[in-house]
Amino acid sequence: MTTGNNLSDYEKEKDTFQWSDVEKVFSWHQTGKVNVAYECVDRHVEEGRGDKIALSYSDPVRSENITYEQLKQHSNRFANLLKRLHIEKGDRVFIFLPRTPEFYASFFGVLKIGAVVGPLFEAFMTAAVQDRLDNSEAVALVTTPQLLKRVPVDQLPHLKKIILVGGEDNQQLGHYSFEKGVFQESSDFSMEWVDLEHPMIIHYTSGSTGKPKGVLHVHHAMIQHYQTGKWVLDLNSDDIYWCTADPGWVTGTSYGIFAPWLNGVTNVIRGGRFSPDDWYQTLETNKVTVWYSAPTAFRMLMGAGDEVVEKYDLSNVRHIMSVGEPLNPEVIRWGLQVYKKRIHDTWWMTETGGIVIANYPQMEIRPGSMGRPIPGVHAAIIDDNGLELPPNTMGHLAVKTPWPSLMRSIWNNPEKYKEYFQIPGWYVSGDTAYQDEDGYFWFQGREDDVINTSGERVGPFEVESKLVEHPAVAEAGVIGKPDELRGQIIKAFIALRDGYAPSEELKKEIAAFVKSGLAAHASPREIEFKDKLPKTRSGKIMRRVLKAWELGLPAGDLSTLED
Ligand code: PRX
Repeated sequence: MTTGNNLSDYEKEKDTFQWSDVEKVFSWHQTGKVNVAYECVDRHVEEGRGDKIALSYSDPVRSENITYEQLKQHSNRFANLLKRLHIEKGDRVFIFLPRTPEFYASFFGVLKIGAVVGPLFEAFMTAAVQDRLDNSEAVALVTTPQLLKRVPVDQLPHLKKIILVGGEDNQQLGHYSFEKGVFQESSDFSMEWVDLEHPMIIHYTSGSTGKPKGVLHVHHAMIQHYQTGKWVLDLNSDDIYWCTADPGWVTGTSYGIFAPWLNGVTNVIRGGRFSPDDWYQTLETNKVTVWYSAPTAFRMLMGAGDEVVEKYDLSNVRHIMSVGEPLNPEVIRWGLQVYKKRIHDTWWMTETGGIVIANYPQMEIRPGSMGRPIPGVHAAIIDDNGLELPPNTMGHLAVKTPWPSLMRSIWNNPEKYKEYFQIPGWYVSGDTAYQDEDGYFWFQGREDDVINTSGERVGPFEVESKLVEHPAVAEAGVIGKPDELRGQIIKAFIALRDGYAPSEELKKEIAAFVKSGLAAHASPREIEFKDKLPKTRSGKIMRRVLKAWELGLPAGDLSTLED
């Protein structure tokens, strides 16, 4: 499958490219002081593009076009409100909102005062919200009265100010109406200029052990968002771009906010739930030219059938990309047939902050491969000693440190941060892969127990911790079970407490308990009751053995099993 183009552009850039050249695009190249919100929004106004539509928002009941000038003003008003509430540079301000225009105005308002923004996925329930606000010591939260019910305010001593979209002032409770507050403020704001290494955003993500980790990125990351926006997303100023990811996840910020707005395009945001008709209608109505989504979504669209595609005019779509989980060759072939476009896979992680490996528009696509590293970043397959392995040899997928959008710390957890860098000179991703003779990377799997369900990263520990809070559950072990549609589904093995009998009813009740306490996507789709779970002598549940049971494979070394 070739695009008719050759690799020469890519090769040329690869040899000559310097990140310092990208810095010259930005005003801070001279001043040394930066603010990503300025580069995403205000700069376009100053350069005469204020009337251009920045945000084209719609959901089933609301539809709004917001120009760059308006986005500047809205975010300025919000920044002024934060100032009036004495929120300071460096403070963590979380946004727990659906992806509405208020989300994006708040997001840039937080950045404009030099505070650190923490986007929270709208579907999070109490335990997930609490862990994140608590760990980050967030001082302010933007949310709605509905979602506030999931915020255990009494348990969060640092959280002093709550700004409510569609809510009322209540000084005693520290509640402030978003609408009233913003209305009172001036639309002029004097930008807080910060250092390149100043913290910008925290995304919580899961490992195989412990609570979610607060991955911290700094303003300097913008050069990678900007440049990959050009190279990989192929953004030109007249593009209409749609990234389907929620801003609670890193794709929804790096490529749902930063990359498109740094490149000055019109950014389409669609609220509401997934449905094939709704998505195709969104592509058609907005005349989307560049579309970034995920394998599970493409598989669902494929499952919905070609007839649905044929109802819509998708002729404006020029470029399609995917991220988050393995993209099946079959889906690429189907995409070529119905969209008449190749779906370009990309690889990166919350921790890498931006795209590291990609299929460029002008590259030959090898279906099943994630592509090749972007210029300016050296990704490789290495062994345990950090030696680069020859082609077609499986090993650790690693990236040579540093690069601009690499995370700068794990919030409040320097030990966890160090774990990624145990092989000197390398960031070790936790993925296994191999490279072919031409440098294309082929994903093989995860080295740890992290679950990837529908492209959402779930830590088994977080789910297990919730499960054992249920009165019937004595012990729980959670694994990812291969699934055609979702990549993996969450499967829980559970040993019940005395007095509880296994039943289908109980399975449903336990699944609902996780759904309402943690998040719908973290709830096990399958539960199997066992009399006892395999544990090490020190009492740790051996997920490896659970996986072997599930797949009917040999369980490997059992010398540490308790009996
Ligand atoms: O296992 C890899 C998988 O998703 C993980 C990163 O998840 P997260 O931090 O949530 O970021 C997702 C989107 C940036 C990786 O360690 N992954 C990501 N992209 C791909 C992938 N697996 C296979 N193919 C990909 N293209």
